[in-house]
Amino acid sequence: MDSIQQKAGKVLMHTYNSIPISLASGNGCYVKDSEGKEYLDFLAGIAVNSLGHNHPGFNNAVQNQLNKIIHYYNLFLNEQQIELADKLVSNSHFDKAFFCNSGTESVEAALKLARKIGKKQKNGAWKIIAMNKSFHGRTTGSLSLTGQMKYQESFLPLLPGATFANFNDFTDLEKKVDAETCAIIIEPVQGEGGIYPANQEYLEKVRELCTKENIVLIFDEVQCGMGRTGLLFAHEHFNVYPDVICLAKGLGGGLPIGAILSTEAFNLFEPGDHAATFGGNPLVCAGANAVLTELVDNNLLEHIQEVAVYLKEQLNNLKNKYNIIKEVRGLGLMLGIELTIPAVEIVTKCRENGLLLATAGSSVVRFFPPLIVTEEDIDKAVSILNSVLRE
Ligand SMILES: Cc1ncc(COP(=O)(O)O)c(C=O)c1O
Repeated sequence: MDSIQQKAGKVLMHTYNSIPISLASGNGCYVKDSEGKEYLDFLAGIAVNSLGHNHPGFNNAVQNQLNKIIHYYNLFLNEQQIELADKLVSNSHFDKAFFCNSGTESVEAALKLARKIGKKQKNGAWKIIAMNKSFHGRTTGSLSLTGQMKYQESFLPLLPGATFANFNDFTDLEKKVDAETCAIIIEPVQGEGGIYPANQEYLEKVRELCTKENIVLIFDEVQCGMGRTGLLFAHEHFNVYPDVICLAKGLGGGLPIGAILSTEAFNLFEPGDHAATFGGNPLVCAGANAVLTELVDNNLLEHIQEVAVYLKEQLNNLKNKYNIIKEVRGLGLMLGIELTIPAVEIVTKCRENGLLLATAGSSVVRFFPPLIVTEEDIDKAVSILNSVLRE
């Protein structure tokens, strides 16, 4: 009989180097594989399972909606979608929402919106500046803005008009701006690039520049948004507010949803400009509404702030003990440790010992537990990591 890996190899395109383990169930911060082995999940499907696994409030909300109606095209209004948009705009400085199905689609939507704004409000400006080491997705538009050649090289040439500046380097950014620049896109905390938070002064200067030069400032908070850093949106830590934001991952708690939010001044899409067949359907919006209820109404944000301080302290303790940890960095429950050895070695050993983690680049191990993680879970994870590092 074929192993699951052999079966997968026969029928799936080889786009992922998947670990030959199939996760079959989950509860809270724990998942079990098909053989019954349990793992502490400090990865949350890469910042997606924000409420962990099998969360009662989330499951109820989705099951309720499942029994009513799960999809209808946006030809008709849908109450779950309107409620979600209302929750997002009333808890932010934004005014309007558009829903799609993933992070990359949210970046595509932001890109098109920025192009339209450039056309209508800035003499046809069309160029977009993104950051080196950024990650914005895999579709052609978002890949054009992803500042890592390893993702782009097989698909060049990509969208014209995308240029790159060094992250946190305002002088470099200023040099790249010209009269045709319509937008700048930044992750307030770079995720795939290695968990690098933006500098306060840098973001303030970028905001000032964009306002002065009539450039749309887009923050990609697909990974760092939706409570991950302890505030609903990462930019709130900096008190710097973008014109458009991209969201996905944790927004749906595991269901596929993406969104852009914009301020009224940049709300320029008109009927026919943009659409998504599944975008914001009642089922995924019911899940996202449950996530927001936990974050905003049931004090999950406060919980995240508390446990995040605890996790960072514990990781810093490990840093003081082991020379191979060069740095602990990140914001809230979006933390990374930079190692002097390949991160994959530690991630693999931790998994063998029942702890799920991921790498970010070659030397960073990232910690993205579900937002409901407790100090007890953290103690357990740190103890596994400690024994792996000791070895
Ligand atoms: C910051 C950022 N933007 C966009 C994306 C793309 O999201 P998706 O994989 O849902 O298309 C990711 C995915 O990791 C991301 O981290």
